[in-house]
Amino acid sequence: MKVVTTREDLRAARTGLDDLGFVPTMGYLHDGHLGLVRRARRECAGVAASIFVNPTQFGPGEDLTSYPRDLDRDLSLLEDSGVDLVWTPRVEDVYPSGFATNVQITGVTEVLEGARRPGHFGGVATVVTILLALMRPRQLFVGQKDLQQSVVLRRLVADLGLAEEVVVCPTGRESDGLAMSSRNIYLDDAHRQAARVLSTALRAARAAYASGQRDAATLRGTMEAILAAEPLADVDYVSLADPDTLVELEGPITRAAASLAVRVGRPRLIDNTLLHEDDPGLG
Ligand code: PAF
Repeated sequence: MKVVTTREDLRAARTGLDDLGFVPTMGYLHDGHLGLVRRARRECAGVAASIFVNPTQFGPGEDLTSYPRDLDRDLSLLEDSGVDLVWTPRVEDVYPSGFATNVQITGVTEVLEGARRPGHFGGVATVVTILLALMRPRQLFVGQKDLQQSVVLRRLVADLGLAEEVVVCPTGRESDGLAMSSRNIYLDDAHRQAARVLSTALRAARAAYASGQRDAATLRGTMEAILAAEPLADVDYVSLADPDTLVELEGPITRAAASLAVRVGRPRLIDNTLLHEDDPGLG
């Protein structure tokens, strides 16, 4: 496995790797990330990953400086998973002196996380544009856990032609349903127990949908009632939206993305599931 830092070394290491699958990360890897690597390994001849805690997607007061980091462990996990190339840039390798580009995507960035974290998706779109321009993969692999990010990145890649395809992989979950996230490390025991309420609420919406419930307000209400019963959960939003446009749905629905953002102690957790007729399970 080649590990490179500068753009120049990346360009040299990239030569000769055809049919590349790319997994961008901010490090502190968990099995959700490794699931993306495994999928890339199956679908592409070569696999590349990046580890970069991107400052431009963190707002003031967010956890940029305390974001968990463990580069040695991450590299050994990626090597064991069969990754060929890892880019671990410094800030100046991604944003060289005089950097003045800002990639903005309208519409799908303006609701949910985008409405609450101004500038977040501008930072994500800008860094992923740079990563893709330099890495030049055939396929980009991202997790459904960050549903809105996956919608934004599909838009970015379709608009700018930076890869052939974005592959959105199911959310990695702990045995009790909690969606894997690097920020779960912030949960103490009591809040870790309470955090199960997110997947419980999503499962309840899925069960209601499976038994024929199609009214958007009722499905939203099912999730809200479960979250309200957990005293340690401070709900930011409960959304039932179109999975492609993320426009909030009313009345009878056919397919939808149910998304939650809930502060449970220190971390603000997000999770989601898709409701549609050909349901593959809690993704
Ligand atoms: O999902 C993440 O870890 C980040 O938002 C990404 C896509 C690596 C961009 O910094």
